[in-house]
Amino acid sequence: MRKIIAQVHQTRGRILRAFTEGMDPCCKVTFMLLCVCGLLILEAPAKSEAKSVTRRFFFHVRYQAITRLCSTKVVPTVNGQFPGPTMYMREGDHVLVKVSNELPDKNITIHWHGIKQVRTGWADGPGYVTQCPMKPGTSYTYNFTVTGQRGTLWWHGHNNWMRYTVYGAIVILPKKDTPYPFPKPDGEIPVVLGEWWKGSMDVVLQQLARSGGAPNNSDAYTINGQPGDLYPCSRAEKVVIPVKSGKTYMLRIAGATMNGEMFLSVAGHKLTVVEVDASYTKPHEVDYVLVTPGQSMNVLLKADQPVGIYYLAVRPYIAPNVSLDNSTATAVIVYEGSHPNATPALPTTLPPISDSASANSFSKSLRSLASKDFPAMVPLQIDRHLMFTIGLAIRPCSNCTLGGRLSGVFNNISLELPKTALLQAHYFRKPNVYVTNFPDNPTLSFNYTGKPPSNLMAKGGTRLSYLPFNSSVQLILQSTAIVAPENHPIHLHGTNFFVVGMGLGNYNASSDPLSFNLIDPPERNTIGVPLGGWVALRFQANNRGVWFMHCHLEFHTSVGLATAFVIEDGPNPEDKLIPPPLDLPPC
Ligand code: C2O
Repeated sequence: MRKIIAQVHQTRGRILRAFTEGMDPCCKVTFMLLCVCGLLILEAPAKSEAKSVTRRFFFHVRYQAITRLCSTKVVPTVNGQFPGPTMYMREGDHVLVKVSNELPDKNITIHWHGIKQVRTGWADGPGYVTQCPMKPGTSYTYNFTVTGQRGTLWWHGHNNWMRYTVYGAIVILPKKDTPYPFPKPDGEIPVVLGEWWKGSMDVVLQQLARSGGAPNNSDAYTINGQPGDLYPCSRAEKVVIPVKSGKTYMLRIAGATMNGEMFLSVAGHKLTVVEVDASYTKPHEVDYVLVTPGQSMNVLLKADQPVGIYYLAVRPYIAPNVSLDNSTATAVIVYEGSHPNATPALPTTLPPISDSASANSFSKSLRSLASKDFPAMVPLQIDRHLMFTIGLAIRPCSNCTLGGRLSGVFNNISLELPKTALLQAHYFRKPNVYVTNFPDNPTLSFNYTGKPPSNLMAKGGTRLSYLPFNSSVQLILQSTAIVAPENHPIHLHGTNFFVVGMGLGNYNASSDPLSFNLIDPPERNTIGVPLGGWVALRFQANNRGVWFMHCHLEFHTSVGLATAFVIEDGPNPEDKLIPPPLDLPPC
């Protein structure tokens, strides 16, 4: 209906002019009035169907003292809350978030992770990509509309590891009077996973810069900001999830951890995945889920076990030879009527720490709902074939103690962000900020998942990929074994992709496409590229802007495992990026 109305709008001027040509002025006015009234009546039902609500949020970014693991430190927060507030909105809502930077000594930007930002790239948030950071004492209003998505997403700081305490959940409810495509749960509970360092983040970052190696490991994982029973000084404030026998609850899980990709399960209970990254899936019953940094999902938990207390636990999936915090965070599921002193058991279904097979089989098992109401619009014809290798590299450094610096690379290029924002440079056609010659294929081919050549001479650069409007893209992400093979959670801003294929070893362009799922592949914004393997993604480049793509392990993003797509405007007014808002932070 709306599409028809839009077309009517576009053509009505032309039709009216053609009809009224040669009429006498009095007739002309009467005719025009009648036409306008007619159109208003025609539009009335469309307008009420499209009625969108404006939701306003006020985010004051300020320091707050927080005590965890027996010690207190002052951290940046939104409105003094840790984690920050959960934002509730509906599909179709117009959202205004006024963010004020009340930190005296740090810049900030905020990203609405997974929101598609149709035509509103200025509100996306990654620092030096779509905006320059807000300086102390300044503010900026993020202005966007939630289009074509519903489920759980999250928001976070997007400069300089700020997201370690500046984050929270985004709940997008379906449009009013539109039910979930599964029985309505009896309750909904946000389960936001995070990561905590006892010491100051400034010290972690200084150590990272000085050494050139990996950052110090965190001291705890958290669930809604709390580490839970297995950590010192954490018992009293653990997260308690009360349930009643026989009822079903929806856990809205968001992966806000920094470097830990988390397995999650609930002792004695199955989980049913119904949505990932704000896109419905075929209901899928599992013993555990994997939530990488950047991913989110809704899972149903049925309270169908004997009355008692059960642990919900998360612990990381860590590649062999990688050092990471390996502790376990917990919350408790407490049945009504259970004995308060009952001792909960840990889930036996939580996969072991380096269990790649369990990680991959979970990722591979997801299917999008692909129903009449929620079709999977997988691009079938491909205009542009891309293949990027992903991994780490060692680049020379003059001032780091290890004598070389770990860098992250796509196609052997480590992103160097400019001093201005890429989107501004694109919009105002500013020269010398970036080039659009990012290679479509690896410049050096070798046995990616075998023993790598000893030095690949990785380079820094601000090289982006240019995509004409509405081109359909297939992107193969191939992991490499350089330095330390890992599962890299790759996140694309501005649009979702379909994960049409996934496998181990080196991608084979002639045999692997034969097994692509083009019917109901999961639609996501973040995908773990398997350790020693590849994924095949497809998306339609129909949202003009500069869209960041990066590994969502914070360490890797910060050492350059990132690039961006520059998507051009389309021909029609509704395909164009809106002009930059007046309060966009200056560089
Ligand atoms: Cu969760 Cu570039 O972001």
